[in-house]
Formats: sequence, C-alpha cells, structure tokens
Amino acid sequence: VRSAVSRSSASNHLLRRSFGTESVPERKVTVLGAAGGIGQPLSLLMKLNPLVSRLALYDIAGTPGVAADVGHVNTRSEVTGYAGEEQLAKALEGSDVVIIPAGVPRKPGMTRDDLFNINAGIVKSLCTAIAKYCPNALVNMISNPVNSTVPIAAEVFKKAGTYDERKLFGVTTLDVVRAKTFYAGKANAPVSEVNVPVIGGHAGITILPLFSQATPKANLSDDTILALTKRTQDGGTEVVEAKAGKGSATLSMAYAGALFADACLKGLNGVPDVVECTFVQSTVTELPFFASKVKLGKNGVEQVLDLGTLSDFEKEGLEKLKPELKASIEKGIQFANAN
Ligand code: NAD
Ligand code: LMR
Repeated sequence: VRSAVSRSSASNHLLRRSFGTESVPERKVTVLGAAGGIGQPLSLLMKLNPLVSRLALYDIAGTPGVAADVGHVNTRSEVTGYAGEEQLAKALEGSDVVIIPAGVPRKPGMTRDDLFNINAGIVKSLCTAIAKYCPNALVNMISNPVNSTVPIAAEVFKKAGTYDERKLFGVTTLDVVRAKTFYAGKANAPVSEVNVPVIGGHAGITILPLFSQATPKANLSDDTILALTKRTQDGGTEVVEAKAGKGSATLSMAYAGALFADACLKGLNGVPDVVECTFVQSTVTELPFFASKVKLGKNGVEQVLDLGTLSDFEKEGLEKLKPELKASIEKGIQFANAN
C-alpha cells in the first residue's frame, strides 16, 4: 500500500511538473517606454504574467530603478532594465513581443493627432531598431496617434524588408475595456460576462463600438446607445480632462496593454480561439488598416474576422469615420517615406 501511495504521489508530482511553468515556452517581452506613466504599471502587470520568462524594460532613462523594483516580485520572469539608445539592441534581441508605450501623452484641449510631430519620430526610430534586432517579434503599438503610428511602423518594416502584416498591432483594447465597463453599467449585466466588439481606429469618431453585437443582450434605447457610443469615443478625453494636465490614461491602459500582450503570448503558444479587437492591416473595408476582431495564433494574426451585422446607426458611424481614419493612415505613410 505504501509503495502504491508513493508511486501515485510521484506521478502526481510529474503531472504537476508537466503543467507547471516548466512546460510553458520561454518568451521574452520588451517594453519600450517602460519608465513612463503606462510603462511602469504595464511592466508590473507583465511581471505577473506566468507566460513571460524574460522581461526587458527599456526607456531613455529611469529603467534601472523600475527594473530593480519590479524585479523583486517573486514571479517567473527575469527582469532587466536598459537605459539609453546604446542599450536598445540588448533590450530587443530575442524578443517575442515588443510593447511600445513610448512617447508624449495628451494635455487637455489636444487631439491625439497633436502628438504626431513628436511621437512619429520616436516610433520610427524604435521600429527601425526592432527591424534590426528582433524582426520576428509581435509589435504592440500603444503610442498615439495609433491610427498613424501603426502605418509608420509598417512602412519602416517594409523599407527594412522585415514587414510581416501578421505581426503588427495597434492596441485598441482600452476602447473595448471602456465599452464593456460602460455597457455593463447601463445593461445591468455582470461586467465580467460582457463582450463588446469595437472597430475602426483609436481616436474620436474612428472608435466605433458595436453595441448591437454586445452580449449579454439588453434592450437599450437609441438614446442610451448614442450616449454609450459617445462616452466610449470620448473615454480618453474624459481621463485627460480629469487628470487636468497630468497626462492621459495610464492605469487602465496598462491593464488593457497587459490583456492584449497576454492574448498575443497565448496565440504564440498555440492556445486555440484567442480573439481580440485590434488595429491591423486589413481588407474588411477599403482602408488598408482597420480595427476589428482578430484571431491570434502562432504567427500573430491568423484571421481578420469580418464585421458581422451592423445596426443602421453603426453603418452610418462606419461611413463617417472612414475619411478621418484614411487621412490619419496616409499621414503616417507619408511621414515614414519622407523622413
Ligand atoms: P509618459 O510621458 O508618462 O511616458 C512615456 C515614456 O516614453 C517616458 O518614460 C519617456 O521617457 C519614454 N520615451 C520617450 N521617448 C522615448 C524613446 N525614444 N525610446 C523609449 N522611450 C521613450 O506617457 P504615457 O502616459 O505613458 O503615454 C505614452 C503614450 O501612450 C502616449 O503617446 C499616449 O498618448 C499613448 N496612449 C495610448 C493609449 C492607447 O489606447 N493606445 C492609451 C493611453 C495612452
Ligand atoms: C486613451 O484612449 O486613453 C489614449 O489614447 C490616450 C488619450 O490621449 O486619450
């Protein structure tokens, strides 16, 4: 009896080992802009993710402190801080996922496009380094204006000969997070059960939540849908105004960025049916980039899903957003090719 018990506990032990972190693939994640308002909490959340084995924290300054701090958290990943351009190569080498929250945030009265002049250059130089040091990484672009920074990244990668449209993502998860929160409140539904696709882009009216496809279903009036749509579109501005000059969303963005990076890692690891809304190269509309539901797999984008059935209100919103989104995409492409 005793030997049977010890055999079974030995096999339990093996079983545990095979499902423990030892069997999870090694994955390196790099955060560019890791000492910033988003970068710091995002780095902490990525440190909590058991799918990460190496966490590289890069910024122009301040990352040794962030890395020392986050590195004391007793979770799987080994944390290293890199500061200054001469350390960028080391931060990127061997990366599976690169998350980019580098760049300036909005102040009250500004649009995301007002950030273009500074952030376009930052994104361009970071993407040039990605093409050189980790051309196969999945790139999660957070820096605004996302509607332009993603096309800039694509052009940089094309010029370097490393562009793979399956590996470049504009992070629009915060729009989904907001739409879920606001919808749950109005629909009186448990927020953890709520799903709302958000399509288009990531600025003002280019953000189009599809409340007609929200689950669980709720019978909301047209006025309520209009108010929910506007609140989702203006969610970033709501935070910018509340912070009154101290920046834009950082904590909710860190949460959203961590969710999206986790989905990318799950896809890379072969977890089936990982679907997130994200801004990618797309043929679901006539625009070259568009946010919609995307299935993530071992090589990044596995399938860009179509938009499904839209209400008349959403169809109208879709047509209205196209000229602005098109102009922002073209602005990014032009910048990348002119500079
Ligand atoms: P922040 O100013 O607090 O932090 C930005 C960090 O980027 C700083 O630490 C800065 O040193 C760093 N940085 C600047 N140039 C760099 C470079 N060349 N290489 C590496 N790091 C560099 O700003 P934040 O609040 O963290 O916001 C960052 C960006 O994210 C902004 O552009 C903001 O608009 C955007 N954002 C996007 C979303 C979204 O939903 N996609 C949400 C919130 C904020
Ligand atoms: C957001 O949606 O919170 C971000 O894009 C930041 C901003 O400027 O609104």
